[in-house]
Amino acid sequence: MLRIGIMGAGFIGAQHAAAYAQIKDAHLVAIADLNIEAGKKLAKENNCTFYEKAEDMLSKEKLDIVDVCLPTFLHEKYVLLAFKHNVHVLCEKPFTLTYESAEKMVEAAEKAGKTLMVGQVIRFWPEYVRAKEFVDAGELGTIKMVTMSRLAQHPNWSTWHRDPKKSGGGLFDLHIHDVDYMCHLFGDVDQVYAIGEKDRNGCWNHVLSTITFKNGQRAAVEGAFEMTENYPFTMTMRLVGHDASYEYNFIAGFNLENVGGAVRSAVLFKNGAEPEVQKIDETDAYLLELRYFVEQIAKGEPVTQALPRHSLYVMKVMLAIQESLETKQVVKI
Ligand SMILES: NC(=O)c1ccc[n+]([C@@H]2O[C@H](COP(=O)([O-])OP(=O)(O)OC[C@H]3O[C@@H](n4cnc5c(N)ncnc54)[C@H](O)[C@@H]3O)[C@@H](O)[C@H]2O)c1
Repeated sequence: MLRIGIMGAGFIGAQHAAAYAQIKDAHLVAIADLNIEAGKKLAKENNCTFYEKAEDMLSKEKLDIVDVCLPTFLHEKYVLLAFKHNVHVLCEKPFTLTYESAEKMVEAAEKAGKTLMVGQVIRFWPEYVRAKEFVDAGELGTIKMVTMSRLAQHPNWSTWHRDPKKSGGGLFDLHIHDVDYMCHLFGDVDQVYAIGEKDRNGCWNHVLSTITFKNGQRAAVEGAFEMTENYPFTMTMRLVGHDASYEYNFIAGFNLENVGGAVRSAVLFKNGAEPEVQKIDETDAYLLELRYFVEQIAKGEPVTQALPRHSLYVMKVMLAIQESLETKQVVKI
């Protein structure tokens, strides 16, 4: 049994706690949150110890894994602190907001000889996993074009998301999911060109990025962090190949709290065949992500997915997209 402590009992901390309850090798022993009411409530629901200060949780508990679900601007501080306590770390995305900060965290993990995985959950999301299987197997033939989108209403449960220095705005908080996944699918990026809208706080909350990969693939990716009221959380992906196309559509409730009730469909359109509706195991992707992390550590086997070195590279791409948004120029990586 691995002893786990969660830092941050907010939106994602609660999802992670629910996932650990379903993982055989996981024992959630403590939750820390400066918000005493939220932290105590989640700790009570999960029958574990509450700490107001994350520092106290680290020094008083004997933990194997720390799961950092804090606001993004606090990731570096608490990931570095966790490694001083000799634990493995799962850090929510976005990993951090600058390249230098990401480098420090990667180096701290390597120095501690501990595992650091970044919560890039789309890499574990069943329909996106299926797309990668199709691409890797050459099922679609040469791919002509990829289009992706992720359209959300602005988080209404916090204020820090509004500050670009704390969250990176929609560009880093939301758009990163698809940019990370595109790099997972196609590897290194050659160049980016992006257009978008910046809100009055300086957050790029609606972005359309065109990405050309070194292997010649092209993608257009839209990320919207502030859709109009009642617009449902939506993700789409279309891969158009010479032999087949794969299309995924997912429409949920206000935000991702309603994954179970979402309308989702994934279809393969192959030349010379009827459309193939994909039968996909719709297990919650947060559960799949955390189960993978816990199981690899429990078995003493290396984590090879969503490594911080991947996130370090994706950080380079995100910063290039930001530069393109600011300068209105194509940016080479
Ligand atoms: N993977 C995903 O799909 C996904 C979804 C949502 C959020 N996230 C990421 O998770 C992170 C948290 O986002 P959220 O929406 O859950 O935020 P949130 O505001 O809902 O929760 C953060 C919690 O951290 C607590 N906190 C703040 N400072 C603290 C400190 N110093 N010590 C202890 N507790 C402290 C707050 O009181 C709050 O309860 C962000 O990096 C976000 O980008 C990822």
